[in-house]
Amino acid sequence: MNIAVFSTKPYDRQFLDAANSTHNHVIDYFEPRLSVQTVPLAEGYDAVCAFVNDHLDADVLTHLAEHGTRLIALRSAGFNNVDLAKADELGLTVVRVPAYSPYAVAEHTIGLMLTLNRRINRAYNRVREGNFSLDGLMGYVLRGRTAGIIGTGQIGAATAEILLGMGCNVIATDPYPDDELAKRGVKYVELDDLIAESDIITLHCPLTKESHYMIDKRAIDRMKPGVMLINTSRGALLDTTAVIEGLKSETIALLGLDVYEEEENLFFQDLSARVIQDDVFARLLTFPNVLITGHQAFFTEEALTTIATTTLENISAFERGGEVPNTVNSERVVSS
Ligand code: NAI
Repeated sequence: MNIAVFSTKPYDRQFLDAANSTHNHVIDYFEPRLSVQTVPLAEGYDAVCAFVNDHLDADVLTHLAEHGTRLIALRSAGFNNVDLAKADELGLTVVRVPAYSPYAVAEHTIGLMLTLNRRINRAYNRVREGNFSLDGLMGYVLRGRTAGIIGTGQIGAATAEILLGMGCNVIATDPYPDDELAKRGVKYVELDDLIAESDIITLHCPLTKESHYMIDKRAIDRMKPGVMLINTSRGALLDTTAVIEGLKSETIALLGLDVYEEEENLFFQDLSARVIQDDVFARLLTFPNVLITGHQAFFTEEALTTIATTTLENISAFERGGEVPNTVNSERVVSS
């Protein structure tokens, strides 16, 4: 098949080219994000390959369908950026990479926790300037603290395992509790109780209509003063303005983010010589107790290999016809 890859970075090309040696698809790489402005680039391609900040709204999908595209191959697990109802209506199949190393995201999550708690980011800068003062760097022992995990799917479960190993008291909430985790000591509670009881709250559920702004002012008001909040899942799970108020009131003592609700205009680009126009994000950067990474939790050799191989296997399966694995449309689509 001929494939238009959007939001291409050098590492995408490297891993997709390597994986394509066993598939022989014709791949063209485009650096821009997929949007209404850039969708003409995809005209005539059978498949469009997109990433987390590509916009697959109704207009983009309609344009794609009208110009020959039949398959949307997401290089991500999340598919909140695709209008699935519209894709169904247009007969477009949407496939994804359901799991591409939950350990990558779980380990990054723990990295944010440890860095924030022991102020390693601040210590790094201080020591480089010859400042060996410890004032303001005090953390706490994680062993025995209560860590609340929202969503115990693949990433949440991997995070829970590490936290159990560190001696934390792990509580969790999920509409589908994991019996194995429960046997290993994770206690399932209601979301409200998790929010009220946790010293550390970490989000690992998908972004849906129901989970949008799940952490809002009401939730923050119920948190333990001094809570650590971590989000490596999707930005709009948090109402960022409410979180900023929570930081100012010192209810939230430590905030670690790998995602941000308006990240599509910021992340995956070098903007170091530009003025940041997003005042909410700029405010977040001013807090000494906030640590932000730019959607890099997945960014490991293992994840990039799995993303590339699964994406091309999905595309090959679609090309062969029959049932396509990893389809996310509301009904499983059988390609012709
Ligand atoms: P998964 O599908 O294995 O697990 C998600 C879990 O969340 C499921 O157990 C589900 O029942 C639960 N859930 C759904 N709605 C919920 C709610 N309202 N409250 C509590 N739990 C709820 O997904 P996986 O692989 O663990 O990924 C989780 C999220 O991580 C993805 O949706 C994606 O947004 C994010 N992600 C972030 C990456 C990064 O680089 N920062 C990379 C990959 C995924």
